[in-house]
Amino acid sequence: MSHKVSRRAGAVDPFIVMDVMAAAAAKEALGESVIHLEVGQPSTPAPAGALVAAHAALDADRIGYVAALGIPSLRERIARHYRDAYGAHVPAERVIVTTGSSGGFPLAFLASFDAGDRVALAAPGYPAYRNILAALNLEAVDLPTSAADRFQPTVEALEKAGPISGLIVASPSNPTGTMVSGAELGVLARWCDERGVRLTSDEIYHGIVYDGHAASAVEVSDTAIVVNSFSKYFSMTGWRVGWLVVPTDLVRPIERLAQNFFISVPTLSQHAALAAFECRDELDGHVRRYKANRDLLMKGLPAAGLDRLTPAQGAFYIYADVSHLTNDSRDFCRRMLQEAGVATTPGVDFDRARGAGTLRISFAGSTAEMEEAVRRLKAWQRK
Ligand SMILES: Cc1ncc(COP(=O)(O)O)c(C=O)c1O
Repeated sequence: MSHKVSRRAGAVDPFIVMDVMAAAAAKEALGESVIHLEVGQPSTPAPAGALVAAHAALDADRIGYVAALGIPSLRERIARHYRDAYGAHVPAERVIVTTGSSGGFPLAFLASFDAGDRVALAAPGYPAYRNILAALNLEAVDLPTSAADRFQPTVEALEKAGPISGLIVASPSNPTGTMVSGAELGVLARWCDERGVRLTSDEIYHGIVYDGHAASAVEVSDTAIVVNSFSKYFSMTGWRVGWLVVPTDLVRPIERLAQNFFISVPTLSQHAALAAFECRDELDGHVRRYKANRDLLMKGLPAAGLDRLTPAQGAFYIYADVSHLTNDSRDFCRRMLQEAGVATTPGVDFDRARGAGTLRISFAGSTAEMEEAVRRLKAWQRK
């Protein structure tokens, strides 16, 4: 007798970049060199102060379960961060510590939506949004975006989406690095409020910004859910700690969900995260390197034939239109890896309809790696 596999699990797509990473690892196992422009994480460890705090916590603390919403000192420190960075008053009671921002999404979506609800999001976009929604029996509604609107949702696109219960905005965005301005975020928040649509603002790349101010939804809305994380600016991916800022009426529902789903967020990581707020100098140094990397690629890639690039305003990604070079970005990335030794992510991960003509280039690595990538791609193009 065969056993059932749920339809909702079947609705979850694989993450194709994982195939690229496996192919890159196989190439490296043969002793060949690969420049990794496919990775979506900092190449650096947690900042030194966070590591010191983690060691101290190991010596002094039992590392047991803690409160489901997070250790109070961390919730308070995150609340203060909103005052310092955005001039916004966010009470610590509205801050919820989560297991990475990935742990925050199911809590936010389960607390906000019922099965069958429709949630709009920009295409291209981070693939886990639609996959988490699908696993929760929610319908992801693509808002096709373009370079003209910086690949961000617009009211015009929303008006065409049909009835929706939620909107997800990511600024700076993965995979495009583009941002919405504070004014644009305000317009989207107002549109949502007038219709009872729950706005979720993914602000995981805040702090990694090159042009202008990354506006937070807390500046323009009391009803939006903000998602953030220690993974990117704070360079702590593997520590699995992030946070939500939620409206007051969602705190208790999310607390009940978090108690049952997770009990609590890794305690050691919360101690380390608290200390990471005092490591600005080290972390801002990473951002300066990302900016140098971005500038180097924006200048160098056109000479390698990749000349349709979205200038990243933040995050560490360049989204490249390669539709004049291929109609199959997966194959293009495979060849680039095999022939040039440069790994990138095919756009199909981010935009199922149009991603066959795009790819994502991550510049989270070292500047020397970016230089080498440009050199290899130029040589590849000449061939
Ligand atoms: C836009 C975006 N949101 C969320 C995440 C999830 O990150 P984490 O769970 O490490 O906080 C990522 C990771 O790449 C991302 O790019």
